Amino acid sequence: MAKKGRFITFEGGEGTGKSTQIKLLSEYLQQKGIDVLTSKEPGGTEVGLELRRILVTGDKDKMDAVAEALLYYADRRIHMTKKVWPALEEGKWVLSDRFADSTVAYQYYGYNKRVPYQTLENLYKLTVGDFKPDLTVLLDIDPKIGLARSLDKAGHMSVKETRHESRGLEFHNNLRQGYLEMAQKEPERFLVFDADKSIEELHEEICRAISERFEIC
Ligand code: TMP
Repeated sequence: MAKKGRFITFEGGEGTGKSTQIKLLSEYLQQKGIDVLTSKEPGGTEVGLELRRILVTGDKDKMDAVAEALLYYADRRIHMTKKVWPALEEGKWVLSDRFADSTVAYQYYGYNKRVPYQTLENLYKLTVGDFKPDLTVLLDIDPKIGLARSLDKAGHMSVKETRHESRGLEFHNNLRQGYLEMAQKEPERFLVFDADKSIEELHEEICRAISERFEIC
């Protein structure tokens, strides 16, 4: 794919404030004259929204990590082919709330490595090939704080998207460590931020780092 835009992904556990930061960054980039598309996984497309309902609602044990990985990758394939790649080709900057690092964090580290890592690598290759995000913003927070925020938000939802929230602290501590390991392994792709800061403070830090990285002034 001859990519003209930029693909920036946001990652983190539950309740890190990703969607708020994506909205604010999108407004900032648009003020700088950049054409931005915001999207998310799972659920960035019409079919993806149906998959999202299956994946994030209901009993936590209704499927295992392998089935989850397959469905998240199905969502990703549709998301990339129908939305992200066409937008990048038009020169848009795509900000995605989650991407493949979420599958490694949740389905691999969260579940204590029960899905072989190689399987996830194979799914990545099949689904997205050699394509990678230009940058990944990791919002890091203590899961005790993040889960409390997330469950508070879910209290206002008509359909509760709390399937993963109900997995308990060990699962969430594991996936947090997994994210930090991934960031250490690929320091040129990841920018890590402390998400236990005010919305404004975090927004300023993210804008500063992104402006520096992509030479926006
Ligand atoms: P969200 O609440 O941040 O929109 O994400 C939906 C849920 O799906 C969240 O609990 C994380 C989870 N998830 C995975 O377990 N694996 C994945 O590959 C993705 C994209 C999300």
